[in-house]
Amino acid sequence: MHKIVRRIINHKYTSIDPHMIVEGSILTFDCYIKRFDDFVIIIESGTLITSDLAHKVRQNDKLYITLDDKEAFHSYQKIHGLQEEKIIAIEEITLQSVLPQVMKLPEKFDAAPNAFKKIELVYHMSALLMEAIFNEENEHLPLSAVEKCIHFMVEAIEWSELAIMPNLLQLMPDEYTTHHHSTNVAFFSVVLGKSIGLPKVELNQLAYAALLHDIGKIRIDQALLLKPSSLDEEEFNLIQTHSEVGVEILQKNGVTTPKILDAVLYHHEKLDGQGYPKGLRGKQIPKFARIIGICDVFDALTARRTYRVNYSSYEALLLMKQQMAHQFDEHYSDTFIRLLASKEF
Ligand SMILES: [Fe+2]
Ligand SMILES: [Fe+2]
Repeated sequence: MHKIVRRIINHKYTSIDPHMIVEGSILTFDCYIKRFDDFVIIIESGTLITSDLAHKVRQNDKLYITLDDKEAFHSYQKIHGLQEEKIIAIEEITLQSVLPQVMKLPEKFDAAPNAFKKIELVYHMSALLMEAIFNEENEHLPLSAVEKCIHFMVEAIEWSELAIMPNLLQLMPDEYTTHHHSTNVAFFSVVLGKSIGLPKVELNQLAYAALLHDIGKIRIDQALLLKPSSLDEEEFNLIQTHSEVGVEILQKNGVTTPKILDAVLYHHEKLDGQGYPKGLRGKQIPKFARIIGICDVFDALTARRTYRVNYSSYEALLLMKQQMAHQFDEHYSDTFIRLLASKEF
């Protein structure tokens, strides 16, 4: 139990209920817990589950197994007499499983009883779609599903009378994943875009670009993206390619709108010229990229990462205002701060 083996593996994981681990059984799969972005093995396959071990395991809210061990886990559940209805079917999140759900979004959106429920629905659906996209090996993007999500994202935010930012923050998990980060940046960008008066057609383009701003990371190894130690120069350069790779992937999928492509390409540019890939300055950086850039940094700072704990919203804004002020468009960042502080939107 206490033998903690750190591994960075390019596995996909799924959570299981710790009560599924049966006292007196011999485990037929490895069990992990999550520490920040890292999965840490806590019981190896072949271990006898003593009562002491079963007790300790159940002190965790969640355990994780790799999807490669899905079959072994199902057999284990059956062998150990867990009731059939309690046996969890583990489904990998793929486009095949997610797309039919996205297609039902219009009816579900209409049926949601209030603005917050609509936002919640679109948030979870967008995150699920992005998770499936990042899980898929190929770069063929389901753009009609993306368009459906962003259409309802803009609708939900357009008509919201809520103090939307605090509600949005409540929906967002602490832990960093690329699919939640993409979704968060899209929601923040649309709220900010609305508040600076962008017309609906631009809000849709902005949402599109923001949801897919890090799509280039699909080509970068997860192990590098989630690397707990700091990056060397070569690794940093490789990660920086994601802006240009993102544009390449979008173009390959038939996206031609210059505002969307430019927003993806320039979302890491900084007003002081210290960004990448071109080192653009000030107003040379397109409007959408300046909006997404603020939301991107705020989300990255407030999410829990492998290499550090997260900042609170207040700490992140303070850091952005005091130490990074030269990087951001002042009007947009002040508006963003007001939105996060406001009770009314
Ligand atoms: Fe990025
Ligand atoms: Fe990002």
